[in-house]
Amino acid sequence: MSLDTIAHVALQAAHRGGRILCGYFGNLSRIEKKGRTDLVTEADLASEKAIIETIGVHFPHHGILAEESGRHGGDGRGVWIIDPLDGTTNFAHNLPVFAVSIAYAEEGVVRHGTILNPVHGELFQASAGCGATRNGRPIQVSGTSRLDSALLMTGFPYDLDDVLDGVMKRLKACLGAVQGVRRPGAAALDLCDVACGRCDGFWEERLKPWDTAAGALIVAEAGGRVTDFGGRPFLPEMPAILATNGTLHSALRDLLNPS
Ligand code: IPD
Ligand code: CA
Ligand code: CA
Repeated sequence: MSLDTIAHVALQAAHRGGRILCGYFGNLSRIEKKGRTDLVTEADLASEKAIIETIGVHFPHHGILAEESGRHGGDGRGVWIIDPLDGTTNFAHNLPVFAVSIAYAEEGVVRHGTILNPVHGELFQASAGCGATRNGRPIQVSGTSRLDSALLMTGFPYDLDDVLDGVMKRLKACLGAVQGVRRPGAAALDLCDVACGRCDGFWEERLKPWDTAAGALIVAEAGGRVTDFGGRPFLPEMPAILATNGTLHSALRDLLNPS
């Protein structure tokens, strides 16, 4: 399967999803709860439908793993991993920090990632072995080598009850060592920010494949390093992610695993 064709279809699908999101932004009439704090809106559902339709026209035999409709179709070899709206809580509060995230994986290995921030018109793409781009131009991770100069991003799981202590310990360790920590609210965009050097590292636990599949490849292709908190090479089914510029990876890993 040509990755150029995959990238082209991912781009079309992301733009369709992005247009739908922008149409609903500030005009939501339906917001429902999937959990105590986990929301789903009509925008999530409409964007996902359009993305899946677009992919289906070109690749009717591929599988889908999408946040709102789950796993369906395909023979399991080529699978599209879709977050139709990453940053739903921001979206529901009219905070313009959200994205569409689309990855394509073959035999469990992510081969392509596309992330679109439709508000800023920023498109991040990477195909395995081909580098990463922002609006068509190559990007790379930062060269920051000192913890006290590092800007980090993180996120907090919806379901915090049994992990709150660990989350707070890790946050405290990082806050005490680095220049700053931000929590923008869309994991896919946090990963793009690592990839293009706007921040030096991102960590979060309890994420899902649709939050990380595209972004992890974009960081890796931009020259960064992506693992779980223990340093194992990252796979989208892993719930914890540490994505860095590479230089700071082991120092940040130590901060996330305080003894
Ligand atoms: C969420 C966002 C958020 C992260 C959450 C994710 P959603 O995705 O990426 O930044 O902290 O853990 O679930 O629900 O907006 O698609
Ligand atoms: Ca998400
Ligand atoms: Ca989502």
